[in-house]
Amino acid sequence: MRLGDLKKHWALVTGASSGIGREFACQLAAAGVNLVLVARRLDPLKVLATELRKQYDVDILDLPMDLAQPDAARELHARLQADGIRIRLLVNNAALGHWAPFEAGSCAAYEAMIGVNVMAVVELCHVFLHDLAAHPDSAIINVSSPAAYQPIPTMAVYAATKSFVHSFSQALHGEWGKNGVLVQTLLPGPTATALPGAQAGVRHGGVGKPMPVGEPVRASLRHLERGTAVVITARGTIWQRIFALLPAEIVIRLVGRMFAPGR
Ligand SMILES: NC(=O)c1ccc[n+]([C@@H]2O[C@H](COP(=O)([O-])OP(=O)(O)OC[C@H]3O[C@@H](n4cnc5c(N)ncnc54)[C@H](OP(=O)(O)O)[C@@H]3O)[C@@H](O)[C@H]2O)c1
Repeated sequence: MRLGDLKKHWALVTGASSGIGREFACQLAAAGVNLVLVARRLDPLKVLATELRKQYDVDILDLPMDLAQPDAARELHARLQADGIRIRLLVNNAALGHWAPFEAGSCAAYEAMIGVNVMAVVELCHVFLHDLAAHPDSAIINVSSPAAYQPIPTMAVYAATKSFVHSFSQALHGEWGKNGVLVQTLLPGPTATALPGAQAGVRHGGVGKPMPVGEPVRASLRHLERGTAVVITARGTIWQRIFALLPAEIVIRLVGRMFAPGR
């Protein structure tokens, strides 16, 4: 899929109010792509939409929405259908993170995290897949994380949700890639955003320095044009290769030390 071919077509970016999602919105708008921007906070979405409309010749719809709510994906799809908007690029980027001992978080908070990090990704892929497949060339970008590769004590639920996205997304590519829907899994390395734990592990030197938001987004869009199914922008993934060779107990202990809050 060439980015230029998306000009004046619509992309849906979840989690567009900050961080990597906001950067996806900026880079796509710069390429002339119309945008549906989703997140819970209306103000940053509105500010971003106004800024991008001023700078580029694009249409933008900002929709404040809690994707952890059970019917959010269906409601979003119905709203866009009613407005005659057909999505050609779906960027499942929204997520909640945490960086604290497991027992410090409530079950309600974990439910919301699984709701947005896992269920919303599954449901958005499900409700938009047929619209996407209606075009000869369209794509989904599911944002996972190198956290998908190994369990992370103090980020137990978050890392597990990212393992889910990693597996699910590649399997979906296996089903739909041949039908013209590229399903790309993006694994950004530590990136300078507000996500809790985004800087975790960095100080120990095992996962590299945080990169600016532009880097993973540029890599993702560049690889969209190449049809790459898995895009990794993590520096220092040597650790992950070493972990693959070690017994689980040792991996859990090493990662637990790397990610210990307050290190
Ligand atoms: N930063 C890193 O180091 C890093 C590394 C690997 C992977 N990632 C992945 O990159 C993606 C983006 O994260 P980020 O680092 O850019 O973090 P971020 O700045 O905290 O952005 C998260 C976005 O998700 C939205 N969001 C959270 N809960 C939501 C909900 N229930 N409904 C709708 N929107 C919701 C937030 O907006 P509202 O608060 O306005 O809802 C925000 O726009 C995530 O999938 C994350 O797992 C990040």
